[in-house]
Amino acid sequence: MADRIAVILAAGMSTRMNTQLPKVLHEVCGRPMLDYVLDACRQAGVDRIIVVVGYGKDQVIERYKECTDVVFVEQVEQKGTGHAVMCCVSHLSDFEGEVLILCGDAPLIRTETLSTLLEKHESERAAVTLATTVLDNPQGYGRIVRDSYGNIQGIVEENDCTPEQRRIKEVNPSYYCFDSQVLLEALDRITPNNVKNEYYLTDALRLSITSGHKVVAVTAVPSEDCVGVNNRMQLSQVSKIMQERIQSKLMDNGVTIVDPPNTWIDVRAEIGQDTVIEPFTYIHGQVRVGRNCRIGPFAYLRDRTSLHDDVVLGVFTEVKDSTLMEGVRARHHSYIGDARIGRNVNVGAGSLTANFNGHEIVATEIGDDCFIGSGAVLIAPLRIEAGSHVEPGSVVSQQQAHALGAEERP
Ligand code: UD1
Ligand code: CA
Repeated sequence: MADRIAVILAAGMSTRMNTQLPKVLHEVCGRPMLDYVLDACRQAGVDRIIVVVGYGKDQVIERYKECTDVVFVEQVEQKGTGHAVMCCVSHLSDFEGEVLILCGDAPLIRTETLSTLLEKHESERAAVTLATTVLDNPQGYGRIVRDSYGNIQGIVEENDCTPEQRRIKEVNPSYYCFDSQVLLEALDRITPNNVKNEYYLTDALRLSITSGHKVVAVTAVPSEDCVGVNNRMQLSQVSKIMQERIQSKLMDNGVTIVDPPNTWIDVRAEIGQDTVIEPFTYIHGQVRVGRNCRIGPFAYLRDRTSLHDDVVLGVFTEVKDSTLMEGVRARHHSYIGDARIGRNVNVGAGSLTANFNGHEIVATEIGDDCFIGSGAVLIAPLRIEAGSHVEPGSVVSQQQAHALGAEERP
């Protein structure tokens, strides 16, 4: 395998998002969109990644400071995608190999597509390869201009298109692979000679072609993957497509999702075989659900929740930062926060953990085989012995809990 570096462009101002947060940190199904692009690069065999940052750079660097395979390059003034790559020259000048260039605002990118791009680049012994896509509505994207033999001649940005070029449906999703030396040569020659007065990376292709290098365009990007996030509407479109992918993967793994469009599951969630997710369930954060569970309708699982096998959570039950062991049932209107609940505990309708005392979050522990009656309020910090029986409507603090031992059950 050739030596590879990826450059991810993420310095843009994202005016159209109307945001204080750098665009690439906006979340798609629970993770910042840049995470998806980084992962696709890693899975395609790239182990050195340069992220070009600018607008909101401190926040981006802070978020990824633990990633040892990522270095950050600052683009102080945003003078275009070509200029963003020029800022990386000191990292590329001694490098002989493939430079993959991608945008941080296109999280639907797939590893398979990058692999196809890299394979094509190598099998064609190309100097530059780009992956393209065909869209029914190409508006807003750079158009791929080919000659009568089908060879690529260049990319023309929408603003610079002739009326005829504007009708071209093959567009540039911004997935490129360059031979490093060819890239450096082209970067030297890009000029801001266009409607926006920017240094366009897309000009590097035309310049490489006119210098006699082999430039190949492969129609390899599924059209839905092309959606880049330039505004909040596109953020919602991308999130919806990502949500469909997450759910379809879970279904392949043996999870039943009764009503996919009315269910939302975080990309970080893990769900076991034969678990059924009923409609209007919302699973957010690092959540683990075992096998044969039944969740919902209208259940809300929050970060750091772990459900073992055969757990049943019903309507309007919220669980946060808690572990529920095998066979726990909480069928109606409960709140379980910061708790560890033992095997086969029945949590009655409307009962809840009072886990915040006004100053801090406090924990509840319930042993195996307990019965928690309807409407019980469990005041944390609290530990209830295995086999205890809590009467419906009780308010239980640690003091009363001592009197609930299994031996005292009727
Ligand atoms: C770009 C492409 C266009 C392609 C489209 C695909 C160019 C000139 N145009 O247009 O052909 O169809 O992507 O989505 O490349 N960025 C920087 N520094 C800059 C400018 C941009 O880092 O100075 C980053 C942005 O943060 C973004 C990416 O580059 O992640 C693309 O920039 P954007 O302004 O969104 O380009 P498009 O107009 O979408
Ligand atoms: Ca864009």
